[in-house]
Order: sequence, then C-alpha cells, then structure tokens
Amino acid sequence: MIASLFVSCLLALSAFAAEYPTRVIYQDLSDPSLENIAVRSSGNLLITSVTSSTLYTLDPTATNPSLTNVITLPGANCLTGIVEGQPEVFALISSSMNLTLRRAAPGSVTVWSVDLTSGIPLVRQIAVVANTTILDGVSTVPGSPNLILAADPDVGAVWQINMATGEAQLAVVDVSMAPGAPAPALGINGLHMNDEGMLYYSNSQQTTFLRMPLNLTGASGNTVQPAGDDHEYDDFTFDAQGRIWVATHTGAVTLLTPETDGSFQTEIVAGSLIEPSVFMEPTSAEFGRGSPAQEATLYVTTEDGQLIAVNTTSAEA
Ligand SMILES: *[C@@H]1O[C@H](CO)[C@@H](O)[C@H](O)[C@H]1NC(C)=O
Ligand SMILES: *[C@@H]1O[C@H](CO)[C@@H](O)[C@H](O)[C@H]1NC(C)=O
Ligand SMILES: *[C@@H]1O[C@H](CO)[C@@H](O)[C@H](O)[C@H]1NC(C)=O
Ligand SMILES: *[C@@H]1O[C@H](CO)[C@@H](O)[C@H](O)[C@H]1NC(C)=O
Repeated sequence: MIASLFVSCLLALSAFAAEYPTRVIYQDLSDPSLENIAVRSSGNLLITSVTSSTLYTLDPTATNPSLTNVITLPGANCLTGIVEGQPEVFALISSSMNLTLRRAAPGSVTVWSVDLTSGIPLVRQIAVVANTTILDGVSTVPGSPNLILAADPDVGAVWQINMATGEAQLAVVDVSMAPGAPAPALGINGLHMNDEGMLYYSNSQQTTFLRMPLNLTGASGNTVQPAGDDHEYDDFTFDAQGRIWVATHTGAVTLLTPETDGSFQTEIVAGSLIEPSVFMEPTSAEFGRGSPAQEATLYVTTEDGQLIAVNTTSAEA
C-alpha cells in the first residue's frame, strides 16, 4: 500500500522530468552481457562483455549494425573496463571471472594495451594485477598520459597502473568504495577523474555516487562528498558542460547537474527505475564522436545485450 502510493508519487513526478528520446541501435537478448564502451576517433564503438574475452566493435551509424570482433584475449572469459589512454591506444581489463561469485580467479586479472593506430590491432600485456579478484571501471588521469585508474569493487579501492612500466599499485583505499553485505557484492564500480583531479565514482552495493579529490603525486585529501541520490549507479561519462550522465540500474540514465554550491541536481532523463522498458540493467554510457550529431548522442550498454542511443539534443516534456 505504502509502496504503491510511493510509486504513484514517483510516476507523477517523472511526468515533469525532461525525457530524451532513445533508439535501440543493437540488441541481442540472448548474449552477451555488454559492459563497457570506448569510442574511437572514427566514431566506431569498442564494446566489452563480461561473458566474453572478445573485444567487439560496432559502427553506430550503420543500418542494422552488428558486433564484429577486434581481438580475443587469452586466459580470460570476461572483459570489463576499457578506456582510450592515448590517441587510438586503449587500456583494457580481462579476467577469468566467476559471474556467480562476481570474483575472478586470483592471478587472472590482466591489464592490456590495444593499439589501433595502424590497420592491425597491436595487443600487449601490461600487467597481471596479482592482488585483486576484480577490476571493473577504468579512467584516464588528466595530465598523466601513462597512468590509468581501475576500480576494485572487492577491496574497495582504486588501483593506479602505469601503462609504460606495468607497475600496479593501490592509489587509494576508502570505506566509501567498499562493498557492503551480502556477498557477492560490488563496491566501487564506475570511476572517472576530471581535469581538476576530482575523482567521481559509483558504489553499486552502497547505491552511492561520490567524489574525492585525488592527487596521485602528492597527498590526497580523502574528503568524500556525495554527488547523487540513492540509486544503483554504474559507469558514467562527463559532458562538455561538466554534467554527468550515469547508467543506472535497473533501467535508466541519470543526469547529475552541478549547482553553484557544489551539490548536484539529480534527474532521471531516459528510461525508468520503476518499470524498466527501454534499458535492461544499463552498465555504461559514452558520447559518440566524429560529428556534432554523434557528440550529442549518448550510447548506453546493458546487461541484456542492448546498445541504446539517447539523443541529448533536446528533451521532450
Ligand atoms: C562459481 O563459484 C561457485 C561458488 O563457489 C561454484 O559453485 C561454481 O561452480 C563456480 N562457477 C564456475 C564456472 O567455476
Ligand atoms: C599483495 O598483498 C600482500 C599482502 O597484503 C603484500 O605483501 C604484497 O606486497 C602485495 N603484492 C603486490 C604485488 O602488490
Ligand atoms: C599534487 O601535489 C603536488 C605535491 O604536493 C603538487 O605539486 C601538485 O600541484 C598537486 N596537484 C594537483 C592537481 O593538485
Ligand atoms: C537528435 O534530435 C534532434 C532534434 O532534437 C534532431 O535534429 C537530430 O537529427 C537527432 N539526432 C540524431 C542522431 O538522430
């Protein structure tokens, strides 16, 4: 009773919220569980799946696009985070994952470099991160082109990996990044550092979205500030105005808009958390590249094998 009243209130509220039009670009409900996206300068997407060790690509402007294979990594059954560290060179995480436990075999979590600057993908193993059983989202570090950050949702930590030397070390361990009970819980999931050195991250189990100034070369202030409401946030991306577009379980995209006082306005701008019908467990979001229309298009992957485009040009009432 209380629950249904609550739902009707939320439905009434959502009628006033901005809603951006969505379009299914690709869908294969049987397989695979799409996880993360990086966008090439050509506008083609690179897409990972937690149920495959193959890195896929897709041209989102094609008619009826499909996933085609770029490379398949050895010793793995799962790919998680991918990020463009240097132009057309991507950092990518693989592992031998038990999806029931949501943990990978110790010694299987591997960081790769995938260089797509020439016609032939050049794949190099950078590091086996021995002391982790799962690395999820990844981020670049503005001003440090050799470094990437990777979220450890088991330990509740951020690893710093030097793509030039292969050195992997913990950058920060914090209770705000830890998973809660019950197992198999995931703590910190998506993470991205902005140009001011502010690290934004979601925590799946704690249903939080947070930020922390992180200085990798000096002392880090561990001042954790909440940035979003109580939703199961996953991976996300910034736009040119500093707003944050977050893939949100079970079926929505949340827009976090910074206010002048440092807080964020939180709005569901596509899909729904009450009756998911467009996005089925969204996992990550990235803007397109290559043209103004692509730059205004947000691509969202889902666990149910969907790639969905959100046209962020203008909201419908
Ligand atoms: C995953 O872990 C569970 C619990 O330990 C185990 O029962 C299952 O066999 C494992 N799955 C694989 C594919 O190893
Ligand atoms: C792994 O963790 C152990 C125990 O905390 C520590 O002694 C060891 O140095 C760590 N190894 C690496 C490669 O970080
Ligand atoms: C990080 O700390 C170092 C040493 O304290 C300082 O020189 C540098 O300006 C800091 N960087 C940022 C982005 O605050
Ligand atoms: C997005 O919507 C605008 C109208 O708001 C339209 O002009 C534009 O063509 C759309 N972009 C795509 C890629 O469909």
